[in-house]
Amino acid sequence: MKGILLAGGRGTRLLPTTLAVSKQLLPVNDKPLVYFPMSVLMLAGIRDILVISTPEDLPQIRRLLGDGSQLGLRIGYAGQPEPNGIAEAFILGAEHIGDDGVALILGDNVFHGYDFQGVLREACHDVDGCVLFGYPVSDPHRYGIAETGRDGRLLSLEEKPAVPKSHQAVVGLYLYDNDVVDIAKNLVPSARGELEITDVNLDYLKRGKARLVNLGRGFAWLDAGTPESLLQASQYVQLLEQRQGVRIACLEEIALRMGYIDAEACHRLGVALEKSAYGQYVISVAEQFAEQGRQS
Ligand code: G1P
Repeated sequence: MKGILLAGGRGTRLLPTTLAVSKQLLPVNDKPLVYFPMSVLMLAGIRDILVISTPEDLPQIRRLLGDGSQLGLRIGYAGQPEPNGIAEAFILGAEHIGDDGVALILGDNVFHGYDFQGVLREACHDVDGCVLFGYPVSDPHRYGIAETGRDGRLLSLEEKPAVPKSHQAVVGLYLYDNDVVDIAKNLVPSARGELEITDVNLDYLKRGKARLVNLGRGFAWLDAGTPESLLQASQYVQLLEQRQGVRIACLEEIALRMGYIDAEACHRLGVALEKSAYGQYVISVAEQFAEQGRQS
């Protein structure tokens, strides 16, 4: 399965902060926002990833993530010159997707929860149609909203409904089979002139091929698109990291634990950042990992 990380948009709800910096490069506590969606793709076992952003923001994002080889990944880049909607990612990324399925994640979505890796592994296995993830929210008019029947079956999907049928938001992580490319190519822009991801999902729903996985209330899903939600994401991450002494979305640690890089490579990445607490953490993770390896 291929990955697409959509880090586009102008971040208008964060102006003036985003006048000169991409939203996805803003810090969430101790690391750039884009690390969070990248960590999700990595935990899903996806190593071939296309990052899509505005042509202006791409050079800085590339400076941060490079070609991915340092993390045992392959990261490519594509520009989205106009904010033509989330579903345009499948047209811009058609070549990258090739004959595979694809996981799309939005660059401002933060996920955290127990055994998310297990949830992802199960959901990514042999995707036939599309897999969406639902999460309860208090402000459903801001999101794509899913209505499900008693048996959990998906009944309807609506993008930012004025009168929401439920409080279940469809989060910014979507898994598709290869049909998504053709579906996206045949989409008609919505009233706001965008190729809507919800229209892609509706197409799958009509074919009876859309599945919703409920992430449930024990899970944390945050989007960091406004000053309030960006700060809340920082506070959430800071609280957990300080309390537990572990770091969330530490890409070097994930690459090590997933077996994408070895302890030596991880240690080198930490040394390059050693003046920061983040860098010190990466070094300590690499040292502990090497030590455990020696003991076993
Ligand atoms: C987009 C999608 C929406 C989804 C949300 C998740 O909205 O259109 O369906 O619930 O992402 O973050 P946006 O945040 O681009 O307005």
